[in-house]
Amino acid sequence: MSATPFLSDIQTIRKRARQHLERGAVTSSYTLDRDVVLKLLNEALATELVCVLRYKAHYYLASGINAQSVAAEFLEHANEEQEHADRIAERITQLDGTPNFAPDGLSSRSHSEFVVPGNLAAMIEENLVAERIAIDSYREIINYIGDADTTSRRMLEEILAVEEEHAEDMKTLMEDFGKKGEPAKPAKPRAARPASAKPASKRQIKRS
Ligand SMILES: [Fe+2]
Ligand SMILES: [Fe+2]
Repeated sequence: MSATPFLSDIQTIRKRARQHLERGAVTSSYTLDRDVVLKLLNEALATELVCVLRYKAHYYLASGINAQSVAAEFLEHANEEQEHADRIAERITQLDGTPNFAPDGLSSRSHSEFVVPGNLAAMIEENLVAERIAIDSYREIINYIGDADTTSRRMLEEILAVEEEHAEDMKTLMEDFGKKGEPAKPAKPRAARPASAKPASKRQIKRS
């Protein structure tokens, strides 16, 4: 038998549970700084919402010979990012916080960026960059939380695993583009292109 008990005695647990009932699932054994956790989760929420918007924009603006299959992938990812946003928002409310859905400041709260390039290859690349940002962000949040909030940690680990699948999907699409003889990257940095060679504006791009 272990020398040190790993559980508080039952009377102590019962007494603590009756205190601060207004905090719901947040009990006194929650040792993390809740403000920090809520800030991190709201940044993750903003990141997911920006990812939804970016994938949706890419879905509707995708054009070119490979647009149908790539756009379908963008839409699938958009829907999965929305699921992530919903899970994070729900966890924020469980932690007695307020999920921040305000459009004002959304892009500055988000770790990933809202970029809509003018061609399909650059869209895929942009999404791969965003997924890699999400992967690093989730890993850092998970490391911060450690074992002190296992519910948030489990959720974030599950989301992280999906982001890694998303990154792999985008990498595969980039490679497929290379095999089909289409550029996996824009031929030149956009700033270096003459004005006449610039991609069509977003409004001019129609999905095929
Ligand atoms: Fe996500
Ligand atoms: Fe993702």
